[in-house]
Amino acid sequence: MVKRIGVLTSGGDAPGMNAAIRAVTRVALNSNIEVFGIYDGYKGLVEGNIEPLTKARVGDIIDRGGTILGSARLPEFKDIEVRKKAVDQLKKRGIEAVVVIGGDGSYRGALALTEMGINCIGLPGTIDNDIASTDFTIGFDTALSTIVEAVDKLRDTSSSHHRCSIIEVMGNRCGDLAIYAGIACGAEIVVTSATGFEEEQMLERLRDLDVIRKKRHAIVIISEKMTDVHQFAKKVSLNTGFSGRATVLGHVQRGGSPTPNDRVLASKMGEKAVDLLMHGIGGQCVSIKNNEIIAVPIEEALNIPRASRKELQNLFERLV
Ligand code: F6P
Repeated sequence: MVKRIGVLTSGGDAPGMNAAIRAVTRVALNSNIEVFGIYDGYKGLVEGNIEPLTKARVGDIIDRGGTILGSARLPEFKDIEVRKKAVDQLKKRGIEAVVVIGGDGSYRGALALTEMGINCIGLPGTIDNDIASTDFTIGFDTALSTIVEAVDKLRDTSSSHHRCSIIEVMGNRCGDLAIYAGIACGAEIVVTSATGFEEEQMLERLRDLDVIRKKRHAIVIISEKMTDVHQFAKKVSLNTGFSGRATVLGHVQRGGSPTPNDRVLASKMGEKAVDLLMHGIGGQCVSIKNNEIIAVPIEEALNIPRASRKELQNLFERLV
């Protein structure tokens, strides 16, 4: 049976990563498996920035955003020579398996390490909800709550001033944060890569909301990378009865104390990762499907096409 495992966080951080680190560490220690924290993702792995974790070290972190292990992106990990250094660092310490908490880029590294003889299990840690094998990623629920809180506040001031608030949210080409926020906030318009961005059509809709629906405000939620929201706000002021104001929520969405849902999801997924490693299984990622925690081969997970969210888009349209 596996005796020593490592855990690392990689890519953009997400609230709930700490809860996942805690779960992996405590479940493993309670099963007499030693746990090593690998700092700053694959970079720390290659450099040997690795230390044992204790139950106390992961105490008082379940409610903290960010990651106590630090995170980084290391594109060079694609290089076999770089990965060999990582494997050497693990072998030197007798670490036989690793739990990788991150997004799809991190999963690719986990799969490559598994193919080199180090069993790895991926946990979906990203606010973007862009891993198709799982219904929800760790951090998505918290980021969504952050967006909803901000948009609720923007609605207040937009109503007072007869304004159109254009809010850019993250998602890295996945529209889930935008469409879920659009429904939860009662937005007037949502723009994602699935809907596309047709400027003239948007302006026409905003004129209707002003003139026909006599709205005091209009809330437009736009996924990042779709358009320049500041330029669009100027066009709204020039071409509709609303004055336009743009807000880019940015990295605020990545911080904050994780919601109870994210803490519980991270704890369940951390437990599953350790159970898989205890059974000598690697190259899999933990997912939640229809409220059940399951394991999916990483290779398969990376090839599942992203859900179109048509049903959510339809619901949104029916609520406007
Ligand atoms: O993947 C998480 C994410 O926050 C994306 O939503 C965003 O596009 C990207 O990371 C931002 O990356 P960085 O923190 O490197 O600017």
